[in-house]
Amino acid sequence: MTFEPSTLDFSILPFTAGVNPPVTKPHPAFLTDITEQGMRDLLDRFYEGLYQGAIKELFPPSKEEMKIAGQYSADFFIQICGGPSYFNQSRGAPQMRGRHSPFRISPHARLHWLTTFEEALQPIIQNKQSSQANIQSFWNYINVFSQWMINSRD
Ligand code: HEM
Repeated sequence: MTFEPSTLDFSILPFTAGVNPPVTKPHPAFLTDITEQGMRDLLDRFYEGLYQGAIKELFPPSKEEMKIAGQYSADFFIQICGGPSYFNQSRGAPQMRGRHSPFRISPHARLHWLTTFEEALQPIIQNKQSSQANIQSFWNYINVFSQWMINSRD
């Protein structure tokens, strides 16, 4: 059996205060590959990880609320990957920086947020649900855009 070498790069771009680098949306093919249900499952895993992880105090305290929050996030990620505008329908205009402003999001919180996302992506990689290029485009998007959400030094 031969193994295709992984070209995936999950390194995290360093954060520089006051710099919001240009954001490129993920390839729509990432959503086509994993399907809407796959995106909902991805966000379920991600919010499950957040619920148990180092930045859980930022998020709703109950599992039920986290499940709902995860599905609103899935609405967003389906939309940003070129799918139906579920988030606009369920929550209104994304305005992500404004929505995050009530929460203290530090560079440290961003690191946990990203590493939790990396873990949630693992089944998609292992089960080859999408190409490495499409998975990379999704990572590159959250890697860059997460810098925009930082609103606190610590
Ligand atoms: C930098 C690290 C980040 C942290 C610590 C963080 C934290 C949070 C928190 C505390 C909430 C509110 C609880 C909830 O409803 O889920 C939230 C909501 C949300 N976040 Fe983030 N976030 C980060 C980055 C991002 C990024 C980069 C995106 C998009 C690419 C994003 C998309 C969302 C969405 C769609 C919601 C739901 C908003 C709603 O339902 O009104 N977040 N985030």
